[in-house]
Amino acid sequence: MQIRQIREEDIPVCAQLANDLPLGKTYGFTKDKWIQKLQRACTEKENLLFIAEEEGRLAAFAWVHTHGAFLAAPYLRFIAVDPSFQGRGVGTLLLKEFEEQTRYLKKDWFLLVSEFNIGAQQFYEKHGYQRVGALPDFAKEGIAEVIMVKKHEGRN
Ligand SMILES: CC(C)(COP(=O)(O)OP(=O)(O)OC[C@H]1O[C@@H](n2cnc3c(N)ncnc32)[C@H](O)[C@@H]1OP(=O)(O)O)[C@@H](O)C(=O)NCCC(=O)NCCS
Repeated sequence: MQIRQIREEDIPVCAQLANDLPLGKTYGFTKDKWIQKLQRACTEKENLLFIAEEEGRLAAFAWVHTHGAFLAAPYLRFIAVDPSFQGRGVGTLLLKEFEEQTRYLKKDWFLLVSEFNIGAQQFYEKHGYQRVGALPDFAKEGIAEVIMVKKHEGRN
């Protein structure tokens, strides 16, 4: 498994992956909206986008905003592993990449996860993230987003 920065040609494949997730239907994603969001993100220097690939096949991608939490701390905006690669450690590799690439900021790591996405919450807890609150109706009416934070051991 190789991790590298996203390239222009990866964007439609990432958009397809995001769109095909069960989450996509809940939040009303479309592939075109994803393509636009990812293209725009690639032009802004606070965004880090990286992918995991195996033998040229996209396994997963992650989208990070270096100051996305309160203009101060790193925020994992999205992570998605292709269902055929889930449970093989790919999500763990990308989560580590998020933390390593933003460790220099010396700030805690933040993310949001849907309240119903218990599997993902367990995954983050396993990696040291703790639930600190919830935002009702934040991304979609009727669904709360759980706020999860991991402490930076040497934070400012
Ligand atoms: C959540 C996600 C990123 C995890 O990535 P992954 O590559 O499947 O996870 P890994 O193989 O690195 O880690 C697996 C561990 O996480 C936990 N885990 C991951 N997905 C889980 C699930 N759906 N249910 C329960 N536990 C899960 C398991 O406890 C597992 O631990 P084990 O190895 O001791 O069995 C991935 O499953 C995914 O993309 N899911 C769909 C999209 C999504 O929910 N994204 C998160 C949005 S906030």
